[in-house]
Amino acid sequence: MRILFLTHSFNSLAQRLYCELTALGHQVSIEFDISDSVTEEAVALFKPDLLLAPFLKRAIPESVWSRHLCLIVHPGVPGDRGPSALDWAIQRGLKEWGVTVLQAEAEMDAGPVWASASFPMVPTRKASLYRNRVTEAAVRAVLLAVERVESGQFTPERVPGAAHALMQQGDRRIDWAHESSAVVLAKLNAADGFPGVADELFGQPCHLFDAWPEATLKGQPGSLIGRRETAILRATADGAVWVGHVKRPGGIKLPATRAFPEAAELPELPLDGWWKAPVPTWQDIAYEEAAGVGFLSFEFYNGAMSTAQCRRLTEAFRWATTQPTTVIVLRGGSDFWSNGIHLNTIEAAESPADESWANINAIDDLAEAILRCESQLTVAAVGGNTGAGGCFLARAADHVWVRDGVMLNPHYKNMGNLFGSEFWTYLLPPRVGDEGARDIMRHRLPMTGPEAVRRGFYDICLPGPGFNVDVARRAAELAAAPDIAQQLAAKAARRAADEAVKPLAAYRAAELAEMRRNFYGFDPSYHVARYHFVSRSPHSWTPRHLARHRDLDWKIPE
Ligand code: COA
Repeated sequence: MRILFLTHSFNSLAQRLYCELTALGHQVSIEFDISDSVTEEAVALFKPDLLLAPFLKRAIPESVWSRHLCLIVHPGVPGDRGPSALDWAIQRGLKEWGVTVLQAEAEMDAGPVWASASFPMVPTRKASLYRNRVTEAAVRAVLLAVERVESGQFTPERVPGAAHALMQQGDRRIDWAHESSAVVLAKLNAADGFPGVADELFGQPCHLFDAWPEATLKGQPGSLIGRRETAILRATADGAVWVGHVKRPGGIKLPATRAFPEAAELPELPLDGWWKAPVPTWQDIAYEEAAGVGFLSFEFYNGAMSTAQCRRLTEAFRWATTQPTTVIVLRGGSDFWSNGIHLNTIEAAESPADESWANINAIDDLAEAILRCESQLTVAAVGGNTGAGGCFLARAADHVWVRDGVMLNPHYKNMGNLFGSEFWTYLLPPRVGDEGARDIMRHRLPMTGPEAVRRGFYDICLPGPGFNVDVARRAAELAAAPDIAQQLAAKAARRAADEAVKPLAAYRAAELAEMRRNFYGFDPSYHVARYHFVSRSPHSWTPRHLARHRDLDWKIPE
């Protein structure tokens, strides 16, 4: 079928559905929801058999839904209607939730239901729920709905229900002195990603994001207890909760201590080394060990890696190489493995160009430490979505194991034509060939795990459920291999041979020369793209590589 996506943005859910439907042979084109007339124009150009709305913030115009079948992906169970569906489900502590694919009509979310899928709820952040359970359920429901549309045999039924209201900041308000940590966490989790919880820190208004539980530290309920790296700990009625990120009025989302320099006055509450703390607390970099394998997790908000985070992770990695292991697994975070340099801290810097330069050098230092590691085999276990530099940083490891279902965006061009670094010019050609490398860099579309493996970019794709267990088992097998010493020796020999042909420093210098031009040169594209990205500016047009119906050689189907 010809399927037109009408979506607010090409977010991870839209990307996943795009890949799934394209793999089934459907022809998919994308139009951002910019205005009714633009939508009407896209429909006229593409003549879709079906419109699908994976992520919409406005209603589809009647001129479209009254003439074409339009299916909406609603992040709620059948009968649930209205905005803030996930927010209410999390805040109310529901045990089960779901996704419904329903037909667009005049009343929002009240049309006949084409398919639905449910999932058990877990206490987590809204954005994380969306990227994982909601996305998986949406894939199941959309594929079933599309199959039903194609069959022509299915009659969708209306499901009675009631609409809930948009969750207001009044519903989210936290009373730190009187509410328990569990309630505070649920409220912050329900607002995470967007819009955050309106509150005050240091007597100044801000929105709070990125909450972490704290198991042992306590203080006067409501007071600020201390800080750790970039997070601030605040006491609740029965304990305390960490706040990792905040947004001040008119500003962008930033690490809490970066947004509030006053936080420097709070006592630092350091952890003792890199080992994973035995009880819940704020810990962005955590090391564990089992069966001769070291596991390094880096839970960086949104997968963004600032200069300081890259430096600390490099330090942690170097320390991990001194441990009595033969394999190190780089686990990334639970939602993202890495999305490359931290565009928000760059934007907030006094000189974004200088900060971009520092950040790319810091991430290159990390990539180089991984590449030069001779004491262990390294595995990047890509269990979360990964974009831009993060995709190439993963490739610095000896093995890359990717979870099926993860969305990869291995390209830099969407960020104002960045050239990219992280040694991609060294890492890609031997695996995918020169043309393959150029193709990956030109290809501005998302890639699935199986496609990354098919191209030779990553090594294996493992099933989604049980990924972490599978990774741990395979890593332990690698560590226990009788020829592990020979494998390590062969790796060192390969590196030395490569170094003799062309030193890593030469690859790095050539890539960074291009990046320097991106950061400091005459063309401001990167700075403009970054500004719009971090400000979440609404799109004013759909990029041509997504809106295929707007290609010059696109022919109106007969
Ligand atoms: N720096 C700072 N924030 C980043 C980031 C980065 N490199 N990459 C993603 N984010 C943030 C987004 O701003 C968004 O923030 P929110 O909390 O306000 O929602 C959040 O992560 C999720 O990103 P989003 O774009 O909604 O997720 P997605 O899964 O739909 O898309 C990407 C994933 C990777 C395609 C997209 O985030 C992207 O293009 N990121 C930029 C990558 C990049 O150019 N890095 C620099 C070059 S190395």
